[in-house]
Amino acid sequence: MTVYQATASAPVNIACIKYWGKRDTKLILPTNSSLSVTLDQDHLRSTTTSRADPSFKHDRLWLNGKEEEIKEGGRLSTCIAELRRLRREVEKKEGTPKISEYPVHIASYNNFPTAAGLASSASGFAALVASLAALYELPATPSELSLIARQGSGSACRSLFGGFVAWEMGSKADGSDSFAVEVAPCSHWPNLHALICVVSDDKKGTSSTSGMQRTVETSTLLQHRIKVVVPERMRAISEAIKARDFPTFARLTMADSNSFHAVALDTEPPIFYMNDVSRAIIALIVEYNRASVATGGSIKAAYTFDAGPNAVIYAPEEYIKEIVQIIISYFPQAQPFNDVFGLFGGEQPKGA
Ligand code: PMV
Repeated sequence: MTVYQATASAPVNIACIKYWGKRDTKLILPTNSSLSVTLDQDHLRSTTTSRADPSFKHDRLWLNGKEEEIKEGGRLSTCIAELRRLRREVEKKEGTPKISEYPVHIASYNNFPTAAGLASSASGFAALVASLAALYELPATPSELSLIARQGSGSACRSLFGGFVAWEMGSKADGSDSFAVEVAPCSHWPNLHALICVVSDDKKGTSSTSGMQRTVETSTLLQHRIKVVVPERMRAISEAIKARDFPTFARLTMADSNSFHAVALDTEPPIFYMNDVSRAIIALIVEYNRASVATGGSIKAAYTFDAGPNAVIYAPEEYIKEIVQIIISYFPQAQPFNDVFGLFGGEQPKGA
């Protein structure tokens, strides 16, 4: 008897130019393009196994061992239906076994706290789409699969690639030109590292879905951000990445994090994703960079925050140890900083 089963894994990605706002909530089409770095080590990953079997009664999904409902018309069922549709096309063309007719069971695990502002929906939907695509043996490119992952969670489309990834917002109403593309592979800039500082692993207060909707409906600042600010930043950061120009990459990354949290604050009622510890980390990085520039050096680190209080700090490998030590010295109670990982192309920093 043939067993139809496949496992795939996808890491989280952390945006440098943030996606915030949907122009179509069903198809998940964004109001601006975005750009992220996919973290490439074993921390912060989702691993998903899918199995199709004629004895199954219906589609089911378990997240970290707990069954989740697959709501009809919801995001999970949309992704599964899209991949089934592609499988059916393959079956028609090539006469391969009709496993698209079997229900699927899907089990997914995150090796980090779910929904704590650590982009678990990004890696989760990317791994789900990749595992079903492998199960169905689809001849699809990562960009094609990103069209489907996008409909699970917008930022998930970027986790189908490693390295530096842009999600082009597109302009078509059907979303067919709103997909992820590679800007540069991870190997292009191996000494760029990311430190994740887990400030809190509580579930976040305002989900990105409801937060974005409120921002689109009420923020006037968002219009300036999406029309004027982001298009120029997308161009500039892509160039900085290609040139491995860390100071420019860092300036743009910090500016865009600030801009995203400013539109969150400009929302009615306002949304606060960062807390006092997050702001203290910003102050530390600002001072660290100022001291370096003042003594003839350049910017050495960039902070960025998603829809939660946790900090991600990008820095060249040679500064990681120093940054970890500074953070630990300012947060001496910081047991949580055992969770500071060196994530991008290198070893976990010693002393973390
Ligand atoms: O894909 P979502 O709905 O989880 O939204 C993610 C939004 C941010 O993480 C704040 C920014 C981004 O581009 O990842």
